[in-house]
Amino acid sequence: MTETTSLFPPFEPGTVWLVGAGPGDPGLITLLAHHALQNADWVVHDSLVAPGILAMARSGAVVESVGKRGGQASPKQTDINARLVELAKQGHRVLRLKGGDPFVFGRGADEAMALRAADVVFRVVPGVTAGVGGLAYAGIPTTQRDLNSAVAFVTGHGQDGDLPTGVDWDALARGAPVLVFYMALRQLDQVVARLLAAGRPVDEPAAIVSKAATKDQLVLETTLGQVVACVAQHHPPPPALLVVGPVVTLRQTLNWWSPQSV
Ligand SMILES: C[S@@+](CC[C@H](N)C(=O)[O-])C[C@H]1O[C@@H](n2cnc3c(N)ncnc32)[C@H](O)[C@@H]1O
Repeated sequence: MTETTSLFPPFEPGTVWLVGAGPGDPGLITLLAHHALQNADWVVHDSLVAPGILAMARSGAVVESVGKRGGQASPKQTDINARLVELAKQGHRVLRLKGGDPFVFGRGADEAMALRAADVVFRVVPGVTAGVGGLAYAGIPTTQRDLNSAVAFVTGHGQDGDLPTGVDWDALARGAPVLVFYMALRQLDQVVARLLAAGRPVDEPAAIVSKAATKDQLVLETTLGQVVACVAQHHPPPPALLVVGPVVTLRQTLNWWSPQSV
């Protein structure tokens, strides 16, 4: 890439940049994210960040994983918050690199609040969120003028792993023609049951998009009534999204992806 450092804000020592790495394909990171990778002293990343992105870190930078590894429990969020504060107070330029967008179901807000509480200066660099970019790699637009004027992004489970609290399923089912669920697999049967009970049709188009924007991308096109059986049959690996709504049918025309695309 052409040297464009002077176009970008300086990455000051003792500060933290909370940066989105997009859904997988390294080419989807922003120029600001690349600038941060080239200037950070310490990169603290989640397991969803692709190795090809970490390889862009400046040589000499410390690259530290705080993601789930090999079936071990993830570090507690409070420990990650404390680690970011600690590294910043030591005077490092700290790049907190998170999959997708840091402020979409990614605890980026929690980390930013912890930094603010500790008087650590931070900057947020948005990323391509999986629910938009991942669907695009699957050939599914989140909106299409004739089909939907609204889309809802929903998490498939809350902090305790159960269905998220505070979701009015009847209102959600009526509220948007297209629903995109993150962390969709664990409570899939319950999510589907709630949507059907709230009146979404059993034959409504639905898709599972697994490992979007990677070489291993897998898309299962099905219906709301069949999606649980389809997942039981094909075992799509996480991370995965569930998308429900008429835009799924456009994949017949818009699918452009092949493993060589990434
Ligand atoms: C903790 S959330 C983080 C979301 C992230 N901050 C974003 O904006 O995309 C993790 C969930 O994002 C979705 N996700 C992230 N990357 C994905 C990918 N490459 N393919 C499919 N789903 C993905 C999955 O639903 C996964 O369970």
